Amino acid sequence: MKRVVIIEGEDAAPEAVRPSIAIVESFNLPIDFLRPPVGLPAQERLGITFPEEARRAIDQSNATLFGSTSGPSARALFYLRWGRQTYANVRPVRWLPGFRSPLARPEGIDFVIVRENLEDLYVGIEGDLATLPREFTWRAMGRPAAEAAPGRYAMKVITEAGTRRVVEFACRLAESRQKGGHPGKVTVGTKHNMLYQSDGLFRQVAETVIADHPTLTFESFIIDDLARRLVADPQSFDVIVLPNLYGDILSDEAAALMGGLGLAPSGCYGDDYAYFESAGGSAPDIAGKNIINPTATLLSAAMMLDYLGFEAEARRLADAVAAVYRESAFLTPDQGGTAKTTEFCRAVHRFLHGEGT
Ligand code: IPM
Ligand code: MG
Repeated sequence: MKRVVIIEGEDAAPEAVRPSIAIVESFNLPIDFLRPPVGLPAQERLGITFPEEARRAIDQSNATLFGSTSGPSARALFYLRWGRQTYANVRPVRWLPGFRSPLARPEGIDFVIVRENLEDLYVGIEGDLATLPREFTWRAMGRPAAEAAPGRYAMKVITEAGTRRVVEFACRLAESRQKGGHPGKVTVGTKHNMLYQSDGLFRQVAETVIADHPTLTFESFIIDDLARRLVADPQSFDVIVLPNLYGDILSDEAAALMGGLGLAPSGCYGDDYAYFESAGGSAPDIAGKNIINPTATLLSAAMMLDYLGFEAEARRLADAVAAVYRESAFLTPDQGGTAKTTEFCRAVHRFLHGEGT
């Protein structure tokens, strides 16, 4: 028996999560779904957004499916990331026929962004410039940073171990994709021409790690150049491994290549835990309308099934979503259709269980 925690999130996110879970439940797999109180309901009932009960449920489960948060579920999200050390954020970018891409030729876009999920500017060390020691001098001006106060700073942290493990993860993913006919290429993006120390280390460790994987090729671009290449030549990528903030930004850019955030699944993996969520936000502008695109959530759920060892069901779910797009009769407004979220999900359900439409 596997255990999965469901955290619905805020705004329109629950409207995507609920029917998606119903579809996963229709497989009748040996999965126990737990719904501990998190966010606003927990706040109302218990006065805190992330009660002990929720933390325990996560600790006793194999994975979490998380809807997006606009704030109230953020503490749970932080626990899923830093508390459970889910260091590899995997964001597949695969265009499917029927996805409304802004590109003239999106055919063949099929790559994965692996984003380091815990370090970089996300360590959350920020402060007042005036408190910095005098040795912290401004390279370009040659004077102490503290003298430029008032102002603030943020610290960017890249560690050898943190980089090594996420690049290792990216290499194993590239090797497994290679078995399915992908080229076995790992692309690294950094600003090593400016951030010699931090991004320089990420790039150097990445190159060393990839060199230990003889079937893979290593490719490295400066991050701004990589952002351009993503738009100009998206079919040329296989696995892209990035420090945290670049990965955050470029994964939204990459979602746009496919046709939007509503299509972009995401999974965050650690050594002994993983959680899955759509890459986009909680879509407050369309909350309560039953029109949020559940594709990202459904494809994230498929990634979760695969992680839990239900590979055949994962493939069936992803194939059913692809079939709904191929047919294009029940698409949500963001994809040019008029279907409600629940109508889209009913179409997925029909394809899954062989009832046609
Ligand atoms: C994401 C989101 C989060 C992030 C926010 C909600 C903190 O943008 O998962 O990409 O920046 O990691
Ligand atoms: Mg983001």
